[in-house]
Amino acid sequence: MIERIDALRGEGEAAIAAAATTDALEQARIHYLGRRAELPNLLRGVAQLPPEQRGAVGKAANVARKALEQLIEARGAELAGAELERQLAEDRIDVTLPGAPLPPAGGLHLLNATRREIEDVFVGLGYTVAEGPEVERVYYNFDALNHDPAHPARLRTDTFYVADDVVLRTHTSPMQVRAMEQHPPPIFLIVPGRVYRRDSDATHTPQFHQIEGLAVDEDITLSDLKGTLLAFARAIFGDERQVRLRPHFFPFTEPSVEVDVSCFNCKDGLTREGARCPLCKGTGWIEILGAGMVDPNVFGYVREHGYDPERIQGFAFGMGVERIAFLKHGVSDLRLFYDNDLRFLEQF
Ligand code: DAH
Repeated sequence: MIERIDALRGEGEAAIAAAATTDALEQARIHYLGRRAELPNLLRGVAQLPPEQRGAVGKAANVARKALEQLIEARGAELAGAELERQLAEDRIDVTLPGAPLPPAGGLHLLNATRREIEDVFVGLGYTVAEGPEVERVYYNFDALNHDPAHPARLRTDTFYVADDVVLRTHTSPMQVRAMEQHPPPIFLIVPGRVYRRDSDATHTPQFHQIEGLAVDEDITLSDLKGTLLAFARAIFGDERQVRLRPHFFPFTEPSVEVDVSCFNCKDGLTREGARCPLCKGTGWIEILGAGMVDPNVFGYVREHGYDPERIQGFAFGMGVERIAFLKHGVSDLRLFYDNDLRFLEQF
């Protein structure tokens, strides 16, 4: 009997030590100490033994049971600890890693998207992009751009004055003179930026955006201007476009032109349904910008910077970003660009 108890104890100890998981350990416990197991049964049967055996057998079985119980407890703690270690290693989060980037939200405002689109066209033609001050000296905004002292744009009813000789720039053209003061020819430059005028209705806002262009070298002609604007018009409004130049007047260009692009909404002024096209008003042409050959008087202001009017020519142009976006996307009211109504902005 005692040998059997020792044997069970030995088997039990080996099984407990070999249990690799808490499940396996539980199986071993049931097998050696469970209700139907041999060792507890022996203990329960001690009372039926002959009296001279009871003491020794009872003691041995009890010692064996206690020993196995202690081993199970110790092994259980060991396995639980190992399990925790394993889970910690598996679920490890490195809090020093950068967080996952948020999914992109929002988008460019239509005016910024349009400005970038126009910039891309001219950068592709070899132009550089520069910006200038929005608070500008009268000298650059008007005087050096050959404006007559009595030119109506100088009036306080048309232009925001900050001081007698300082305005909020009314156009991006002042950068023509600033750029030529800073760089000798050749220059191929575009200037995007905000401009300000005292105007406010469905087609005018007091603040809007322009993109100025300036190309100056020794042999620049009006046909270079036309070819450049044709490339621009086709990139923005479609490959089929034509451009035409109409004579006009600007103080700082001579000759000056207004530039039209052939309508992209109709054919010869008629829509597909045969109605008069609302975009070009049936004319087949849409005005997109002002331009011209830089007036020699303007070069006169930067002569000492390498711009001899006898030797140098150039063209300039200026367009409204709102106007280009408005035409291209059929926006009905300029003020929609500034209302920040997402229902409008998200359409583009
Ligand atoms: N600055 C003019 C305006 O705001 C637009 C313009 C016309 C710019 C002709 C030019 C140009 O560079 O050559 O109305």
